Amino acid sequence: MVTTFRVHAATDRDADYDVVAGRGVLAELPRLLAERCPAHLYAVVTDSRVAELHAKRVVALLEQAGFAARLFVFPAGEWNKVRATWSALSDELLAAHVGRDGAVVAVGGGVVGDLAGFVAATLHRGIPVVQVPTTTLAMIDASVGGKAGVDVPAGKNLVGAFHPPRFVLSDIDTIATLPRNQIAAGLAEAIKHGVVADAAYAAAVAAAAGGCLGRSPEALEPIVTRGIAIKVEIVSADPEERGLRQVLNFGHTVGHAVEARSGYGLLHGEAVAIGMATEAWLAEEVGIASPGTRRAVLDLLAAYDLPCTVPPALTPDALLETMQHDKKVRAGAVRFALPCCIGRMAQSADGAWTVDVPSEKIVRAIEANRQ
Ligand SMILES: NC(=O)c1ccc[n+]([C@@H]2O[C@H](COP(=O)([O-])OP(=O)(O)OC[C@H]3O[C@@H](n4cnc5c(N)ncnc54)[C@H](O)[C@@H]3O)[C@@H](O)[C@H]2O)c1
Ligand SMILES: [Zn+2]
Repeated sequence: MVTTFRVHAATDRDADYDVVAGRGVLAELPRLLAERCPAHLYAVVTDSRVAELHAKRVVALLEQAGFAARLFVFPAGEWNKVRATWSALSDELLAAHVGRDGAVVAVGGGVVGDLAGFVAATLHRGIPVVQVPTTTLAMIDASVGGKAGVDVPAGKNLVGAFHPPRFVLSDIDTIATLPRNQIAAGLAEAIKHGVVADAAYAAAVAAAAGGCLGRSPEALEPIVTRGIAIKVEIVSADPEERGLRQVLNFGHTVGHAVEARSGYGLLHGEAVAIGMATEAWLAEEVGIASPGTRRAVLDLLAAYDLPCTVPPALTPDALLETMQHDKKVRAGAVRFALPCCIGRMAQSADGAWTVDVPSEKIVRAIEANRQ
């Protein structure tokens, strides 16, 4: 079954776009490109793993349809989502004469999507991008919402742009080649979507763990599709993260710090799992979450064997320092998006979806959740 979601991108209605998801939908790429993103040359950007598995096939598909397409490959891994790779890719696209009438097709996980999206956002001051996510994480989360960017020494995603895609095409069959730990890491974001917006979905994600980890398309399809729907609903209500969209940062304040401080030894989704476990503890501790919320979060993570404790090498002080560089920091205080219970997030008295937490409480939460 093919499902199409409409995403509201900004005040400018012309930037609204569709997410098309389903099994085998990659075959629709040439038709959708001709219709929604005509270009003289398509720069298919991917990483070294996805090149062989899927992106070369995408180039062949475009050439068979009579389009001009070129493949651009950078080395796989979160540590390559940096300015140096953005710079090298930008030069390669320029050398290949990708002009203002060109377009970028990002084929891969969230690293490819964020990097290729940022190249597209800046090349000739912005050329169109199409997202073709191939990981559970990129389908459910990264490809929807128009955020692009790179990691810098001060922290994750601190340099970037909003650059909504012309469309997103999520072929669930591409997950068939994804390693088990990557599937689990992606479904950590699905658990997050459930915790922030839909308790029934959180339960369904946990119940489907066996099938999803076993790459059963029948198990994956409803989980991925509903995960996309939740992300679409939230970003459409708040495309530029002025309010509600902040709920999606649950688990990410601690998670990003853990990810950066671990030297990217943990996958993004694994770091977010640790972040959610720690922030759920914090939410109970400050009296925002009802008792049992943290236990429920831990049970959801356990279904996917996701980590839930901060590695011992990471000290609370070091993590706090990294958090203080985070985008979510306002006027020096670290702000957290915290749940009241599974399926509902807390809103503070001023209407914001984040709350200030004093440093001592953050340090205690990390200490209590360290191995
Ligand atoms: N822009 C956003 O709104 C947003 C949201 C969430 C996460 N992100 C970003 O997404 C990134 C994480 O994304 P990710 O988990 O997809 O990581 P990733 O892109 O590094 O992909 C994980 C690994 O799987 C490989 N891979 C990808 N597709 C495959 C397939 N079908 N079969 C086999 N191997 C495959 C990749 O080569 C890589 O080695 C982080 O940088 C995070 O910050 C962005
Ligand atoms: Zn994330």
